Amino acid sequence: MRTRIRRALVVTTAGVLGAVGVLSLAGTANAASTLGASAAAKGRYFGTAVAANHLGEAQYASTLDTEFNAVTPENEMKWDAVEATRNSFNYGPADQIVSHAQGKGMKVRGHTLVWYSQLPGWVGGLGTDDLRSAMNNHITQVMTHYKGKIYAWDVVNEAFQDGSSGARRSSPFQDKLGNGYIEEAFRTARAADSGAKLCYNDYNTDGQNAKSNAVYSMVKDFKQRGVPIDCVGFQSHFNSASPVPSDYQANLQRFADLGVDVQITELDIEGSGSAQATSYGKVVNACLAVSRCAGITVWGVTDKYSWRSSGTPLLFDSNYSKKPAYDTVLSALGGTSGGGSGGGTGGATCTATYTRTDTWSDRFNGQVTVKAGSSAITGWTVPVTVTSPQRISTTWNGSPTWDGSGNVMTMKPNGNGSLAAGASTTFGFTVMTDGNTSAPTIGACTAS
Ligand code: G3I
Repeated sequence: MRTRIRRALVVTTAGVLGAVGVLSLAGTANAASTLGASAAAKGRYFGTAVAANHLGEAQYASTLDTEFNAVTPENEMKWDAVEATRNSFNYGPADQIVSHAQGKGMKVRGHTLVWYSQLPGWVGGLGTDDLRSAMNNHITQVMTHYKGKIYAWDVVNEAFQDGSSGARRSSPFQDKLGNGYIEEAFRTARAADSGAKLCYNDYNTDGQNAKSNAVYSMVKDFKQRGVPIDCVGFQSHFNSASPVPSDYQANLQRFADLGVDVQITELDIEGSGSAQATSYGKVVNACLAVSRCAGITVWGVTDKYSWRSSGTPLLFDSNYSKKPAYDTVLSALGGTSGGGSGGGTGGATCTATYTRTDTWSDRFNGQVTVKAGSSAITGWTVPVTVTSPQRISTTWNGSPTWDGSGNVMTMKPNGNGSLAAGASTTFGFTVMTDGNTSAPTIGACTAS
């Protein structure tokens, strides 16, 4: 027994070390258990792109409503959706998203006013003066319609070229109106709704490179000359060919240092399992380390409806199960996974906080931190449920009892379970996945 415990402890220690950088345990007695609430406790929002035509799907809506506190319409506010025909505005699908969000107290990011893509053909056919007035009219009409309801607008999207040139991307706006169109769009936007934050949003600007340098110069110039800009969006679409850059946090910080908010606006990371989780953890930790990083938006609720679904880049799989990346994000935000505060006798309380500490191809290690509330406790119990065909093969630092199914274990202290007020201890276990990598459900901690 002793040997087994010691061996297990060695594995755990290695696991903890292996997870450095993504491991951030909830420390408070009332740590939140959803992405949105955990982010809110850190002064941030945690949002998702939403498609109006999925809102009627029960699991989609319940996942959205439970986990997120901000939304971005994925396509419904784009020029081709809102003004496909000149001066004829269709707000139906976007209104559906905005009213859903308002009903749930979620922030809304407006996406997007001026973009070369998803632009109806008629715009490209206009002469210079006409184009200028069409652009300003589009901004004014759409922002006025949503005045007071939008937290931040992506005023201009993806205006720079990829690669080393640092040049502006060719578009009807760039080609006919010249560099000044971006400044003009921001000035028009401020006049239309002075209460919304105005963002420039782009991709491949997540690390320091020629493209992000060009955006940086523009933002610096805008700030120096008083052109109204409040935020820069970093889309953060990652995969193995385009991983999270090592200078991601430094890049966010240098923009923040110009006096703008930074926002992670379209986060998705192709992959699976612990590699994907680790990358997500890097992004969340970078945002939390930059005080002007206002929040994170993932580009979709579920892999099922992702714009690159085959790359499974999101936090919920196509059955709406939480992925390892979800656990890591929640943990990095200081949240608890299904655990939380339980009652006890005589005012004694405790919390249970779950973290995945390591993953192998056939198993993973979980660790639960048990923390006493504001009074000392003499004992505790925490139920842990895994999903069949998963099974718990090993435990350490606790004394488990099992229900008949073998899927539910109730953990109690090994020996003396006393904890001083606010003090904590941990126990751990190994889950054999048998193909199912979903996180265990940690029940409420009960103190005695
Ligand atoms: O709704 C129509 C449907 O009626 C039609 O049958 C079908 C056939 O192609 O198309 C459907 O529209 C598609 C739309 O997504 C809704 O699913 C468009 O073809 C498709 O082009 C469009 O793709 C969107 C893409 O932007 C267009 O550029 C993605 O959903 C959306 O996720 C993606 O989002 C962009 C951001 O706005 C800016 N940054 C990059 C990001 C990813 O590309």
